[in-house]
Amino acid sequence: MKNDNSRKRGQRNQKAGRTGGQKSRSQERLHWRSGNMLYPVPAVMVSCADRGGRANIITIAWTGTICSDPAMVYISVRPGRYSYDLLKDSGEFVINLTTASLAEAADFCGVRSGRDVDKFRECSLTPLPSKHIKAPSIAESPVNIECRVKEMIPLGTHHMFLADVLGVTVDNRFIDESGRFCLENAGLLAYSHGAYFELGRFVGKFGFSVRKSGKKKASRSSADSFREKTGGRETETAESSHGKKDHNRRGVRRQKKDGRQDSGHPGSGRRTGKKQRNS
Ligand SMILES: Cc1cc2nc3c(=O)[nH]c(=O)nc-3n(C[C@H](O)[C@H](O)[C@H](O)COP(=O)(O)O)c2cc1C
Repeated sequence: MKNDNSRKRGQRNQKAGRTGGQKSRSQERLHWRSGNMLYPVPAVMVSCADRGGRANIITIAWTGTICSDPAMVYISVRPGRYSYDLLKDSGEFVINLTTASLAEAADFCGVRSGRDVDKFRECSLTPLPSKHIKAPSIAESPVNIECRVKEMIPLGTHHMFLADVLGVTVDNRFIDESGRFCLENAGLLAYSHGAYFELGRFVGKFGFSVRKSGKKKASRSSADSFREKTGGRETETAESSHGKKDHNRRGVRRQKKDGRQDSGHPGSGRRTGKKQRNS
């Protein structure tokens, strides 16, 4: 017998057109040769520095979390990149999460080389002294993840830098009154098949598929109510704000009356208080 959850799942699938029976276009599958099609991924800005302290930024999509405890991440970098030697020599870097308002800067840092331009200056990004390493973080990013390289694995076109997370700095403005870090309000950027997207509609919380019915539904996020309260101004998409860019700052769109992305040092302490549940 179907329980409440599986009935609801069925209804959701029906709405989304995933019913059996009729032959649909989606059943005509195409087989492609081996290649990368794992999307979406983040498009992060990785900051690093040379021995003399000259900082650079490289945009990286081949990145991810690889271990919870010890906290570890990886980035995969082509040896031809200017940043490659910086990463290899210094053994450290910062992963700076990107937002819709940082999309243009992220793209720029992914198509221009630090050999030719000072990307911090070109993008009007603010170098923020890191806590554990010499390479600076990016102040305009909501989350800075300081990393130390543990191992470098040559794979082929890319070499993978496995790294320990030494510390995380977060933008205090995303901490609510209860101390919760509301990352959903940051307008995080995703990269999918050659295009950038701002994270959108909330669809459920971790574990919602098995939550007993009758309990409070996870149908709305604080991001939704945040948008409602502010009339959507705070989560303006790249598209809707087209042409409203602040020309003094390449790539860092000035936004929001509350100045959330404009100024201020993210790391005035970590007050999340709550332990992360998911892996
Ligand atoms: C969205 C995006 C994702 C990218 N991901 C990677 C990546 O994962 N690894 C890599 O080596 N290069 C990646 N690149 C390319 C580098 O960011 C680009 O070659 C950059 O100009 C290198 O900068 P550098 O020469 O200053 O090191 C990406 C570029 C973009 C726009």
